[in-house]
Amino acid sequence: MRSSSGRAFSSRAKSGAVFGVAGAASRSRKALKPSRSSVFVRNVVTKDTGDVVVEGKSSVSSTESETSSERARVSIPWTLSREPIGEGPGGPENLSWNPTNQTIKDWRSIYRNTSLSNQTQKSGDARWIPKACVVDGEIPSDLQGGTLLRNGPGMLDIYGKEINQFFDGDGLVHSYEFTDAPSSEKDATKIRFKHNFVETKGFCDEREAQQMLYKGAFAVGNPKGDSFYNPFDFDVKNVANTGVVEWNDKVYALWEGGKPHELRKNDLNTIGKEVDEVLGQELRVPQMAAHYRVEENKETKERTLITFSIESQSSTFPFTSNKAAFYEWNEDGTEKKRSDFDVPNAMFGFFHDILVTENWYCLFQNPTSLDFQKLMTEYMFAKCALAETIAMQEGKRPILWMFPRTEKAKKMLSGDEFAKSYELKNQFFFHHVNAFERETGEVCLDSIPWKFMDFSMNLDMVTPAFWQDGSRTEYTRFTVNPSKKDSKSVKQECLSERCCEFPCVNPTIVGKEHKYVYCGGTVVKDSRKWGPNQCLVKYDVSPCANDSGEKAIDQVYYYGERCFVQEPIFAAKSNAVDEDDGYILQLVNDAGLDKTFLYIFDAKNIGTGKGYECKIELMDEHVPPGLHGYWSPPKKN
Ligand SMILES: [Fe+2]
Repeated sequence: MRSSSGRAFSSRAKSGAVFGVAGAASRSRKALKPSRSSVFVRNVVTKDTGDVVVEGKSSVSSTESETSSERARVSIPWTLSREPIGEGPGGPENLSWNPTNQTIKDWRSIYRNTSLSNQTQKSGDARWIPKACVVDGEIPSDLQGGTLLRNGPGMLDIYGKEINQFFDGDGLVHSYEFTDAPSSEKDATKIRFKHNFVETKGFCDEREAQQMLYKGAFAVGNPKGDSFYNPFDFDVKNVANTGVVEWNDKVYALWEGGKPHELRKNDLNTIGKEVDEVLGQELRVPQMAAHYRVEENKETKERTLITFSIESQSSTFPFTSNKAAFYEWNEDGTEKKRSDFDVPNAMFGFFHDILVTENWYCLFQNPTSLDFQKLMTEYMFAKCALAETIAMQEGKRPILWMFPRTEKAKKMLSGDEFAKSYELKNQFFFHHVNAFERETGEVCLDSIPWKFMDFSMNLDMVTPAFWQDGSRTEYTRFTVNPSKKDSKSVKQECLSERCCEFPCVNPTIVGKEHKYVYCGGTVVKDSRKWGPNQCLVKYDVSPCANDSGEKAIDQVYYYGERCFVQEPIFAAKSNAVDEDDGYILQLVNDAGLDKTFLYIFDAKNIGTGKGYECKIELMDEHVPPGLHGYWSPPKKN
């Protein structure tokens, strides 16, 4: 497939992840701290009902009134006969699961345009978050000098035309810089906030035309009004909305279907569209994955950035293999290593995330393939999205590929092997946790696979029954032994029955055996029932070591019945010793209040005491559910 600029595009259908990000609904017999259900709102894009009430009043401080005064809020009435369950550590007691239509209304309401920029889409200037926005607690001083960067779909309604799927939304990058405010800013916190849309070709063209011009990978129907598509026209818009990384003072917005966009660090303006080089390395494949890994040496603190890409369509005849490229950079931006591999039968394989260990690069090839009949009979007539023609195949086995990163790994290959490969049970992979090697030669790969993935799903199809069985995730460990040359054995074990998504670990433990994992999770913990991610979950996987068969221990902070979480991000403390000496930063959407909050937790104390260290209201703005972010640590002295 090709991006809007005509370059090769690998369809990265991600409809399932939306359900991992957000969601709602749970019921408890015990209410914790009641959450406010009163609301204000703004222009809405959800397809939801006639429940929208528009009021135009801000309730925060005068400092942000210029922005919020123009902003009405989307009020989703609370219609249940009881009060909504409020936030608290541990979650409600005696939980019973009873998802409601209220939950779904709440959930859908947060998927709409950001209020940070209206549809003139002007650059947002840097501004200080007012002290009045700190709802509770204090900002930890250890974060001083660091910056949280986030990316995600920020525009879900393009000049009056609603997009079909969240993942087609134009990328909005925003940053939270922890630094002292100048003396003139007496009412400011230590957080300087910036945001900007990524000025992709599609975004700029549509801004100029003031109308939707391009179709996204998930779009059904032709924005140009034609009744059919050329079935071989795989052009879709590069939306640059999935990942973001800052390395050696360069910032890149990432979208795996195309090339990265480079942003200027000081204002997040786009200075490079679909760049051919990243940090001085020419791309071997005309796209780059949105996921990467950062290794950090615990002793020297030296960090390494590791990225990858794999073409979805073969570029060279006879089209039997696809090129995978791996790149590594030192902290100063210099090239450390790069490797290419030809991967057979990887066409439309959908590789989303990467794991690395000392000796291996690990990719999971999903059991997807092009549905040619659907392409010709439905996509061609604009009856389905392009992404829907890349379907998960029932019974098809995913493949775990382990590409050698070192000479030691190459010596474990046999015959004409260029990589180790293992067939897995039928399941679908988006996000991985971490991988590590044991002295026995075994490699453990922790991931969060989905039972199955239906790319035609979208928010409008969700009912309460959606959260009973169906496509759900489980924290899972895969163990293989590449040192045994002929072994194709894979052990797969579930480490927790709590559904979760968006995992992260302490960067100093990437590629090494970890004890702690942080992710968004459901409040219900059950082998069949699940729900939207409304909790921050900290897993302690030490009971699972040495194949004990034990489950992980989890600590949970529940944000409340009307709240939906974004990806947690780990930020190390300045004098960290233990693996969990750090902070977890997490954005949360409160549908009841129509507000977005930044929570900061001490990673040691999730689920205990008050739970969080600090809760900050984001200037009365609506920041839609995002995808992935990055913690840029304070510069070393
Ligand atoms: Fe992702």
